[in-house]
Amino acid sequence: MGTNQIQLIDQYDRRLNYLRISITDRCNIQCIYCMPRNGISKLRHEDILTYEEILTYEEILRLARIAISLGVDKIRLTGGEPLIRKGICEFIPRLTALAGLREVALTTNGIFLKEKLAKLKTGRIKRINISLDSLHRDRYEKITGYDGLELVLAGIKGAREMGFNPVKINMVVMEGVNDDEILDFARLSLEHPYHIRFIEYMPVSVTSSDIPLRHVPSSLIKEQLGKLGKLVPIPRDIHDGPAERFKFEEAHGEIGFISPLTHHFCPACNRLRLTSSGYLRPCLLSDQEVDLEGPMRNGASDEDLAGIFLKTALTKPHSHHLTSKNSTHLSAKMSSIGG
Ligand code: 5AD
Ligand code: SF4
Repeated sequence: MGTNQIQLIDQYDRRLNYLRISITDRCNIQCIYCMPRNGISKLRHEDILTYEEILTYEEILRLARIAISLGVDKIRLTGGEPLIRKGICEFIPRLTALAGLREVALTTNGIFLKEKLAKLKTGRIKRINISLDSLHRDRYEKITGYDGLELVLAGIKGAREMGFNPVKINMVVMEGVNDDEILDFARLSLEHPYHIRFIEYMPVSVTSSDIPLRHVPSSLIKEQLGKLGKLVPIPRDIHDGPAERFKFEEAHGEIGFISPLTHHFCPACNRLRLTSSGYLRPCLLSDQEVDLEGPMRNGASDEDLAGIFLKTALTKPHSHHLTSKNSTHLSAKMSSIGG
């Protein structure tokens, strides 16, 4: 909780205490649901600063401090791929040292995870989410354009052994692409404390798939999981956000569902997003965004910037209108928003 009395609350009374920060739009792989295969235009890093460019670490720390003073107590670092940005391991302990933060989490594709684990641990990262959409080497390469499955699996195992908790594995389920692996992913939660998250594919950005990508409704996934055992619901925690959580009886790990298409979780949304180029987005699935970088570089005070945060919170939409039919209505790149 910030020391300030003023809190980020939207007009539907949702308290926005969770800020997701995309620290780079670059990525070292190209998931079919996120990137075209020839890559996207990249913002320059650590060069001369202009409006087009990404926030410096100093700027991110300043904005994080302001957000915390307004009640943000959880931050997640996303990308692109956060672990490829130069200086990330020195930045993380500075971020986690900010007073008032309950936790800092990281979303990564896992390619560089193993080699960075020790520094993430001493940097006080608590939770790690790893994106992984196939357990087959060839298919992993097809989905990401990179033969990196072994690296990701080593990162996941290393994270578990080093005691990160939870270690979440996010699988974007796509019909005819990887939906035959649902049970294999779910099984990972039986023996190990992994939290497996099944995410409905969202038709929001460019894809590099030869076939049209389609989501698999979470209800169908749940049905399939019945073959492995009984799914016991885990009571919701106020910090849970949009996931529905379950656990197989006797399992060490958990199963979760994120169902942007078939389940309206918007009423429980507690998030704001800061893009790598310094825009504040009240909703992942709306193009609306407000520039913080420009005012900051033009000398805005902390109070001015706090004012922008508060005003933007009030514009957070009640809910999104994404369906499997109205695809690609988001013009921003997922890799700069951070999923
Ligand atoms: N649909 C669903 N999830 C997506 N992500 C990125 N693009 C999409 C999409 N089109 C999420 C995935 C991935 C994370 C980095 O962002 O969870 O693991
Ligand atoms: Fe990279 Fe994440 Fe996009 Fe995959 S989804 S290409 S890991 S930014």
